[in-house]
Amino acid sequence: APIQAPDLGECHEAVDVPPTAPEIPNCCPTYVPGRTVTVDFAPPPPYSPLRVRPAAHLVDRAYLAKYERAVSLMKALPDDDPRSFAQQWRVHCAYCDGAYDQVGFPGLEIQIHSCWLFFPWHRMYLYFHERILGKLIGDDTFALPFWNWDAPAGMSFPAIYANRSSPLYDPRRNQAHLPPFPLDLDYSGTDTTLPKDQLIDQNLKIIHVMNMVYFIFQMISGARKAELFIGQPYRAGDEPDPGAGSIELVPHNPVHQWTGDPRQPNGEDMGIFYSAARDPVFFAHHGNVDRMWQIRRALLFPGATDIPDPDWLDAEFLFYDEDARLVRVRVRDTLDAAALRFAYQDVGPLPWLDARP
Ligand code: C2O
Repeated sequence: APIQAPDLGECHEAVDVPPTAPEIPNCCPTYVPGRTVTVDFAPPPPYSPLRVRPAAHLVDRAYLAKYERAVSLMKALPDDDPRSFAQQWRVHCAYCDGAYDQVGFPGLEIQIHSCWLFFPWHRMYLYFHERILGKLIGDDTFALPFWNWDAPAGMSFPAIYANRSSPLYDPRRNQAHLPPFPLDLDYSGTDTTLPKDQLIDQNLKIIHVMNMVYFIFQMISGARKAELFIGQPYRAGDEPDPGAGSIELVPHNPVHQWTGDPRQPNGEDMGIFYSAARDPVFFAHHGNVDRMWQIRRALLFPGATDIPDPDWLDAEFLFYDEDARLVRVRVRDTLDAAALRFAYQDVGPLPWLDARP
């Protein structure tokens, strides 16, 4: 059976936050039993404007001003508003640090990483976050930027987040990795000594392999192995962490670790689950993670179904939307980006497509 939406009334302490965290956050969202109404997700009307997400390194001043204004308004909302930045980052904490038990399985946590829920859950997390930001500035075309780390021009920390006087700034980052320091997509705690052009080359090969090799494996073996990209099955009653898909493992995880602050006890903010989304760059990083999924479905293997298993398609999550309504989303609602009315800026040919190792 599919993982059911959590019971927000039963949300409890996020048990997986490491005890060394400088403060243990309460990650439970505002929820008033008997007053909070849950609605089923409906996609936006087909004629609503398309939100085209720009590459973070290419945005202009007008866009940046809009984005910064939206984030400061979000940060200024009262803490108990589920749309406030304070609650938005904790949404991620709750779903990845054991604040929710699976319905019907007390003591068994819901974990949306390292399994087949990774892409759909993060897609919808960004979807609602983006719509809240847009609503705050009265712009229904507003779209989050993406960190274009699969192209050489995007292979450093995106400069718009590094301005100390911007609401996009977060002091808890690795200060040695500020732009233009080159990004290592295979980072595991120590900086490489590779010269920049070789590092770029290595990065492109990594992206190629993580996007393509599993498909090649599938062609040869005949076995349907979409799980190798999407993540391993995770059903009601299962223990968390059955296994991550290729992109989640690399470069998703290394980019988190590369960004987090080694002076903090757990690599806060980006380097550990509970605090990762407290850094606004989280949303740009996951924009590109999501874009990899989108590219796979739309460009590389059009028409390929991901996983035609109702235990995946009917798995559910809850998010607050731009009107602070609690929305129940199923994985099957998340598959079609066009129906969700967002897209990614076309930044030209994919530089990793032919970067065979
Ligand atoms: Cu939910 Cu990049 O982690």
